[in-house]
Amino acid sequence: MSAIDQMRQAVRASLEVRGLTKAYSSEVSVGPISFDVREGEFFSLLGPSGCGKTTTLRCIAGFERPTGGEILLGGARLDTVPAHRRDLGLVFQSHALFPHLTVAENVGFGLSVRKVEAAERRRRVADALALVGLADLGSRWPQQISGGQQQRVALARSLVLRPPLLLLDEPLSSLDLKLRQQMREELRRLQKQLGQTTVFVTHDQTEALAMSDRLAVLSGGRIEQIGTPEQIYRRPTTRFVAGFIGQANILDATIAVRGDDGVAGLRVAGPDGVVLRVRLGEGSGAVPPPGSAAAAVIRPEDVVLGDDGPDAENTFRAQVRDIEYLGEDTQVTLEAPGLPPLLASFKTTRTASARLAARGSGTLRVRIDAADIHLIPG
Ligand SMILES: Nc1ncnc2c1ncn2[C@@H]1O[C@H](COP(=O)(O)OP(=O)(O)OP(=O)(O)O)[C@@H](O)[C@H]1O
Ligand SMILES: [Mg+2]
Repeated sequence: MSAIDQMRQAVRASLEVRGLTKAYSSEVSVGPISFDVREGEFFSLLGPSGCGKTTTLRCIAGFERPTGGEILLGGARLDTVPAHRRDLGLVFQSHALFPHLTVAENVGFGLSVRKVEAAERRRRVADALALVGLADLGSRWPQQISGGQQQRVALARSLVLRPPLLLLDEPLSSLDLKLRQQMREELRRLQKQLGQTTVFVTHDQTEALAMSDRLAVLSGGRIEQIGTPEQIYRRPTTRFVAGFIGQANILDATIAVRGDDGVAGLRVAGPDGVVLRVRLGEGSGAVPPPGSAAAAVIRPEDVVLGDDGPDAENTFRAQVRDIEYLGEDTQVTLEAPGLPPLLASFKTTRTASARLAARGSGTLRVRIDAADIHLIPG
């Protein structure tokens, strides 16, 4: 049986967090927070600094005593179990390997504490090191390996215990960009291979979107939205989520006309503003009645520039105010009568750049597909 097969046999469990609260003081508290993580799922907690990610993770790990709520692992109460008996895998930002133990001894430490006998321990340590691609480095000291390798040792140290749940708190944030991207892929591949139920904490939206099966976006100690990366990006349900994830034009608007089949006319930027046509996708709910306040979320990549096709819905002419080259993408700030400044972006291809340059000082035709305008409560 391969190392992977053996580790796959580890107990896997689902996690339920129900109305979890942690009050640090009368002013500072986190929660109530509720979410479920399915067996084998990679679930992220994403949010800005201070939103309560680490607090939530520490409550699950047992390092913090919740003020209220329940935590269940595999259907059984976890929050009543002492931290040292929860047997969860933990990897934190500062991976803090023991400097006086070799790589292999670091990985085997938890097994020694659990009195796993030496031969079995050696075998499991070798398997875990092989799993993270460090089979040959077991006899090195932590200070003799790179930051990325140290991070992998920290991961191996957790995985070797075959935990039912792996908790990761910003484990990649101390690594440089290239290494972070590489570790992101490695970690995800390993997690899938093992079917390891994982809760991953990060404030990096790219990381959360790239790695997660589902994620929860937190703000001010509360969950704003839970969904797949695509749902969170394409269908944000709150202004916070729309603004926090990626770039977004968020336009204040009023429903002007309500048509059939989720079609609406949306008046943006005050009474003299433009009326945009909106076509809501499936599962977006009903269009609110005319006169209701709403906000329109439009991603910059959905603002199409220099479209020379026949006149279509939501087509207008705009002045280019600013151009920002970001390498792969170019961002353009547009101004059009009856609209607030609008951010557009496109892939920096030769033809797209040439088209933008060719407009001279004139205006540019701009189009937004009615299906690319997403409505959230105003
Ligand atoms: N031990 C503590 N005592 C008092 N307040 C605390 C304690 N730990 C955290 N807090 C407060 O609780 C809130 C949530 O903190 P937490 O560490 O969970 O945030 P976070 O989302 O992990 O942020 P970051 O991205 O900066 O790590 C913050 O306002 C923080 O100041
Ligand atoms: Mg934190």
